[in-house]
Amino acid sequence: MSADVTLEDVRQDAGLEETEEPLDLAPVQRIIESLGETKGMLIPVLQEVQKVYGYVPEEAADMVADLMGIYPSQVFGVLTFYTQFHLTPRGRHIIRACSGTACHVRGGKSVISKLEHMLGIGHGETTEDMFASFEKVACLGACGLAPVIMIDNDAHGQLDAVKTERIMENLREMDMMKRGE
Ligand code: FES
Repeated sequence: MSADVTLEDVRQDAGLEETEEPLDLAPVQRIIESLGETKGMLIPVLQEVQKVYGYVPEEAADMVADLMGIYPSQVFGVLTFYTQFHLTPRGRHIIRACSGTACHVRGGKSVISKLEHMLGIGHGETTEDMFASFEKVACLGACGLAPVIMIDNDAHGQLDAVKTERIMENLREMDMMKRGE
């Protein structure tokens, strides 16, 4: 990627929409002040930015580039290389379903199908109402409980489609109650 390609160019090419509300960028400045502006701190800085916003907004990435003296295209290169970074807002709940071997042979496929069906989205997508983002991952490190999913920080194991449906219904109910719906 050439250095004169801006982050905005790349995002437009990728069909990513711009956010309309102005973003408070003060945290970005504070993060760089505390971690330093050397190029080697780029990843820790971006990690902290993502912790603040839940993803790395375009304006924040531009500001990081500006304050650290790095081309925006280089920042975008890092953001797209590492799967830990997200360039669009994520749902209120992060649902990870394991597609690893242990889970697969114990019926993980039906669990994943149920999740995709109930959420109406596939891997790497977020529901329109921002209820949840969904990801398939190679192994959640709890193979003894296969098939396994993680909802936010909680693991749910020994699942089948029926149990998955119940868990998701509970999650939806809790989410609605929290939001006073
Ligand atoms: S294969 Fe699913 S948790 Fe390891």
